[in-house]
Amino acid sequence: MKFPLEISKEIKKQTGNDFIIIYRLSMLDLVEGGSSWEEIVKLAKEVERSGVHIINTGIGWHEARIPTIATTVPRMAYSWVTAQMKKEISLPLIAVNRINMPEVAEKILEENHADLISMARPFLADPEFVTKAKEGRDDLINTCIACNQACLDHTFQLKVSSCLVNPRACFETIYPIKPAEKIKKIAVVGGGPAGLAFCVTAAQRGHEVVLFEASDVLGGQFNLAKVIPGKEEYAETIRYFSNMLKELKVDVHLSTRVDKSFFDENTFDTIVLATGVHPRIPDIKGIENNMVIRYDELLSGHRIAGEKVAILGGGGIGFDVAEYLLYETSPQGELHTQHYLSEWGIDKSLMVPGGLITPKHVPPAREVHMLKRSSGKYGSTLGKTTGWIKKISLANKKVNMISGIEYKEINDRGIVIVQNNEDVFLEVDSIILCTGQIPEQKLFYDLKHLSEEVCMIGGAFEANELDAKVAIEQAFRLAIQM
Ligand SMILES: Cc1cc2nc3c(=O)[nH]c(=O)nc-3n(C[C@H](O)[C@H](O)[C@H](O)COP(=O)(O)OP(=O)(O)OC[C@H]3O[C@@H](n4cnc5c(N)ncnc54)[C@H](O)[C@@H]3O)c2cc1C
Ligand SMILES: Cc1cc2nc3c(=O)[nH]c(=O)nc-3n(C[C@H](O)[C@H](O)[C@H](O)COP(=O)(O)O)c2cc1C
Ligand code: SF4
Repeated sequence: MKFPLEISKEIKKQTGNDFIIIYRLSMLDLVEGGSSWEEIVKLAKEVERSGVHIINTGIGWHEARIPTIATTVPRMAYSWVTAQMKKEISLPLIAVNRINMPEVAEKILEENHADLISMARPFLADPEFVTKAKEGRDDLINTCIACNQACLDHTFQLKVSSCLVNPRACFETIYPIKPAEKIKKIAVVGGGPAGLAFCVTAAQRGHEVVLFEASDVLGGQFNLAKVIPGKEEYAETIRYFSNMLKELKVDVHLSTRVDKSFFDENTFDTIVLATGVHPRIPDIKGIENNMVIRYDELLSGHRIAGEKVAILGGGGIGFDVAEYLLYETSPQGELHTQHYLSEWGIDKSLMVPGGLITPKHVPPAREVHMLKRSSGKYGSTLGKTTGWIKKISLANKKVNMISGIEYKEINDRGIVIVQNNEDVFLEVDSIILCTGQIPEQKLFYDLKHLSEEVCMIGGAFEANELDAKVAIEQAFRLAIQM
């Protein structure tokens, strides 16, 4: 206590009364044997006395094995902690973590949980957040989806922090969006994250952009991602881009699959192919069995899995599919927060030092087995600051992870695998294929003969499972130089 108080007092002495000092106080350590609530309140009162002007809420140490800012954490999941501190001291208090839209911030203020709101990542996602909120244009806010992929993951890889949904973040002076020197008529094929991101920046620069999307909705694979429990935020990215297309008057054609012949009849200056991927089907005896379901069939709701399931493939999509299968329904609103707190053992009563109690896990909706051919640990391809969360979460639900095997045969009762040179039979009702993706490049080769410029971006250029970061960044970079 002495250490921070001495620092606060010295800062106060050196800066005088006109300089606002904000102190970030860890109000919930989320580590075993952390501070008790009494100790935290005591420190807060001393900090108040030291002349600090505002106290910000700190949640969890880096050492904590509890997700505190990832997308699996519900919005405003921690404002109740700040609300407790409001009962103890009179300094203005700041609420933090997963407050990513104006309505969430308003709710916290209305419920008197805090006096001020802090946002970190939402301003990376949209530097115009405040202006848009002030103008009542929340529908045009590019919402932080709490993926951590381009901000915190970059920090821990010693790269410049940026943002998956806004690759210009922290590169504003390097990548200015300037009016185009020559206005072009551009056809964009594919309305997934890459196509959408390209359309927005190209239209902002003044190009005449026409988008063709085969399905009846925009968003591409983000429509599959948004149904994963804890990835609901991904719907916001689709909402943002869709509204921006309207705002920028991009000519959008849904339910329009274009092929080679289309471009024989319609001419453009440039064609941008953002046609994404298709699932890779492994060559396994019995793969045509009716119990085999592709991840896209499952997540789009076209097929339903049985009680016992084997997932083939241990990449990011395999992990997401496992999460999807473990829950009957995804809890929403206040229930979401309650579910999150009890799954991770967070003590809302503030009685236990460090804030951790024994977690209560909702029983898994299904028996889930994950299989992968490569040896070694599961989860090596997951995000640096979020992969551990997924691994703990699946372990808590008793997902059986098997690696270093061969797939031998699928029959009506399950799958035969070869493990340590022996055949092992796994009895399951459904087998979900998460065995990689193949770039959708046919159109690119079909159009090679055209004199128009043809470019390829996103998953169509390179399929990397969970890599919307590269897809959106590539789209943005192409659009600013066109
Ligand atoms: C379950 C799941 C979870 C994911 N989670 C994450 C995550 O957490 N982080 C991350 O970075 N990435 C994630 N991804 C991957 C991410 O969704 C992709 O990287 C991203 O969608 C690629 O964008 P894209 O625009 O290149 O392709 P897609 O999203 O595949 O979009 C391609 C679009 O092109 C359309 N199309 C194709 N051919 C034609 C044609 N001939 N004419 C017209 N339209 C056509 C398709 O209908 C589709 O809408 C996830 C993916 C899945 C499936
Ligand atoms: C790239 C990055 C760097 C951060 N660095 C710090 C830091 O140095 N000190 C700190 O107290 N919090 C740090 N944070 C946490 C934020 O201050 C904030 O509490 C957290 O991101 C949750 O708020 P948000 O949901 O509005 O982003 C950092 C967050 C990010 C994304
Ligand atoms: S990279 Fe993801 S978590 Fe980070 S600011 Fe952007 S949307 Fe938010």
